[in-house]
Amino acid sequence: MFGGPFDESIIKRAIENDLVQIALHNLRDQGIGKHRVVDDYPHGGGAGMVLMAEPLFSTIEKIKGDSDVPVILLTPQGRLFNQKVAEELTSHDRFILICGHYEGIDERVREHLVTDEISIGDYVLTGGELAAMVIIDAVVRQLPGVLGSDESIKDDSHANGLLEYPQYTRPQSFRGWEVPPVLLSGNHAEIAKWRREQSILRTFQRRPDLLENADLSEEELAMNKTLREAKDANEK
Ligand code: ADE
Repeated sequence: MFGGPFDESIIKRAIENDLVQIALHNLRDQGIGKHRVVDDYPHGGGAGMVLMAEPLFSTIEKIKGDSDVPVILLTPQGRLFNQKVAEELTSHDRFILICGHYEGIDERVREHLVTDEISIGDYVLTGGELAAMVIIDAVVRQLPGVLGSDESIKDDSHANGLLEYPQYTRPQSFRGWEVPPVLLSGNHAEIAKWRREQSILRTFQRRPDLLENADLSEEELAMNKTLREAKDANEK
């Protein structure tokens, strides 16, 4: 499952340049008995299978040894993943992601092994693998040297708490739709100002919840207030 995303573009280059190491561990290697069993029926009955404690403990203890590496369980019950959490994860030299599967995992793993639980959204995936890939992608692109220029992260949506401004490339006129003239002006200060305004406007229109925590100047707070008042007046 992990082959595709890790063998492409930015992540692939980061691995090749030794900026990150990603190790995959198969729980089955620590499975029990000849059949390398990793799951069993839930005590108390009910549908589905539950991942057993033993293979998870032995796999993870083998990886981490005595170190206190964070052990993160991917589960729809975890705290919600976002850009801030991605940045937080970059502060660890190493972390372990557990991809849950089936109906769940034995609660004792959660209680005595796991140090953090993360969800990538309020929906249920078949397993934690896709969530792990999402998290790894978001974390790796933050690491120094991974992207071509630091600029590319700075202006990303969410990097500064706002959505990114609209982008245009050639041609200047496409089916009669023009590129905003300010972007062709060569005036860098005006361009930066336009982009910042567009970022705020776009965030206001699509994700007003983000503006509550965004770092806005006095002038920008006033702009936000004007936008809100105009919207309220419109709705009356
Ligand atoms: N495993 C199943 N669903 C998940 C989700 N939404 N986030 C993280 N891991 C999951």
